[in-house]
Amino acid sequence: MHKSVKDILDKKKAGQKISVITAYDYTLGSLCDKAGIDMLLVGDSAGMVMLGYENTIPVTMDQMILFTEAVSRARQNALVVADMPFMSYQASTSDAIANSGKLIKAGADAVKLEGGRVVASTIRAIVETGIPVMGHIGFQPQTTTLSQGYRVQAKTKDAAVTLIEDAKALEEAGAFSIALEMVTSEVAKIISESISIPTIGIGSGKHCDGQVLVVHDVLGMYDKLKPKFVKQYLSLSGDITKALTNYRLDVESGKFPAKENWFSMDKSELDRLQREIG
Ligand code: KIV
Repeated sequence: MHKSVKDILDKKKAGQKISVITAYDYTLGSLCDKAGIDMLLVGDSAGMVMLGYENTIPVTMDQMILFTEAVSRARQNALVVADMPFMSYQASTSDAIANSGKLIKAGADAVKLEGGRVVASTIRAIVETGIPVMGHIGFQPQTTTLSQGYRVQAKTKDAAVTLIEDAKALEEAGAFSIALEMVTSEVAKIISESISIPTIGIGSGKHCDGQVLVVHDVLGMYDKLKPKFVKQYLSLSGDITKALTNYRLDVESGKFPAKENWFSMDKSELDRLQREIG
């Protein structure tokens, strides 16, 4: 049986940290799940690392459904949370409910959407249909990139107060956890201590109840952005390019395939064939 929302809430109560990583496909999703990570987030960062967009804005519901189906087929242990893409929940509450339902039917256990108190009533409506929701405040890639670009959030007293109120509004609306993206670590600490649901930080310091990173960043597979908050555990892009160059050179030189890589007929069958075709 895989983890439930209750297991995630219980971890905060027990003072245990929560591990979260993004996943978008079956193969990497299975590996993340085998590593015992608590939650697999099918993030709309898929638009950048899987589809090559500049940001998350072009990502569609159909794309998110495909990624969510693949990850949910891969997981055995983790809770699967799927991102609601830009404009899948902003236009109306009925859109939000219908689209969150599609992600649940695709295999997610919960959905995540960006925004503070402005989305509180949307979150409440989704939660009332029985779908668990993770909030996402601080830097919000779907909208902040339109106006301000990538920026650390809650650097001033006023911005901090707004963010703390947003976090409380999301808890009040029924969110089961909140992602805090690029929030100053002092404010992330205050938020984590003032709400009972877990905060999952990305670039928001060590006082959050859990941490999330993009799997391509952790494995060193996406070189376009290198945020300061990422800890890279491998440098796969270099290793993969090296391996693929060696493959190309082996094909060009005839070193691949070798005898162990091909299939042969029985000698008697080959003799018969040669007699027949002359
Ligand atoms: O889309 C994403 O990957 C995210 C986070 C990393 C929080 O929303």
